[in-house]
Amino acid sequence: MKAKLSQPTAVITGSGFFVPGLPVTNSALPSTLDTSDDWIKQRTGISQRYIAPKKVLTADLAVIAATRALQKARLDAHDVDLIIVATSTPDNAFPSTAMLVRQTIGSTAPAFDLAAACSGFVYALSVGSQFIISGTYEHVLIIGAEKMSSFIDWHDRRTAVLFGDGAGAVVLQKQSSAYPAFSRLEAEHAEPELLHAPPKGPITMQGSEVFKFGVRTLTQAIRETLQQLRLQLKDIALIIPHQANIRIIQSASERLEIPMDKFFANIHQYGNTSAASIPIALAEAVEQKRIHPGDLVMMVGFGAGLSWGVSVMQMSYNALTLVHEAKDSALS
Ligand code: ACO
Repeated sequence: MKAKLSQPTAVITGSGFFVPGLPVTNSALPSTLDTSDDWIKQRTGISQRYIAPKKVLTADLAVIAATRALQKARLDAHDVDLIIVATSTPDNAFPSTAMLVRQTIGSTAPAFDLAAACSGFVYALSVGSQFIISGTYEHVLIIGAEKMSSFIDWHDRRTAVLFGDGAGAVVLQKQSSAYPAFSRLEAEHAEPELLHAPPKGPITMQGSEVFKFGVRTLTQAIRETLQQLRLQLKDIALIIPHQANIRIIQSASERLEIPMDKFFANIHQYGNTSAASIPIALAEAVEQKRIHPGDLVMMVGFGAGLSWGVSVMQMSYNALTLVHEAKDSALS
């Protein structure tokens, strides 16, 4: 692994996620969809997803995920210098979802939304970490939150079976001796119809074209990032790709000859939660102890636009967290 920098960089010091209500299995999907559990599982890897009740807002999901991430980082809402919510399903044109979160958690920080579809979380990580690297802020709260269910046409089996609701969050913190946070943002020209949602939905998609884009960019992102950073695969603890289709991850794994256990996949439980998928996966990987303090994680997002992006960051739960966790486990 590359030498640690002595200048400040951004590390992840807390993560959390939330999915609403009870799981909706493939068999429990509305009968308006002419589909089957077998088709969905075989073609996508999805077994269930979570669908929020109508009155639940994207901001409600975001608040719970953010609160959990702050708890893990042992921080208070007052410690947060900036809040960014990556979402394509905001509750209002304005105020932003981030401002609603700010108000509910009791933060005084500036807050704004960032829309880059399924690449949104990786884009937001990049924006947030720049503020830390530049010395402007010390603690940035990044949330990916989506209520995809409000954008679904429940008569369109080509899209309705794919998506789920949820939110994930991380706390980025300044650290002076850590692996330098890396990000790369990319965008490609595409006809909007390829993957499209008007302001109130529904989502329409040319699935097989988007599938090919996903395989190509996930493969390219991993290969080129390892080369560019002169990292070996063993230096990365876990690759967390956007959870769009298990076959996209399997194809990248085969093309790169990287074993599937190097990737984190939880699409079977949550479906595609767009900008929330990577932070939900990251927080779950931490809970499952697939990532530990000090580990490097690579996150790859791709989606509508078409857009894609990569982020490599170090997990660095701070010393205080480690002391508390040791005490917690001694008590349990
Ligand atoms: N149940 C049963 N049959 C279905 C379903 C369904 N839910 N959906 C499609 N089919 C049928 C089609 O009608 C078609 O039938 P036909 O041959 O009689 O016309 C057949 O299955 C094959 O359809 P394809 O679209 O070619 O199926 P494919 O294997 O490509 O799978 C899928 C479709 C799952 C959507 C896949 O293309 C995919 O995952 N695409 C990528 C999605 C993605 O990555 N999105 C990321 C970004 S999302 C964002 O940014 C918001």
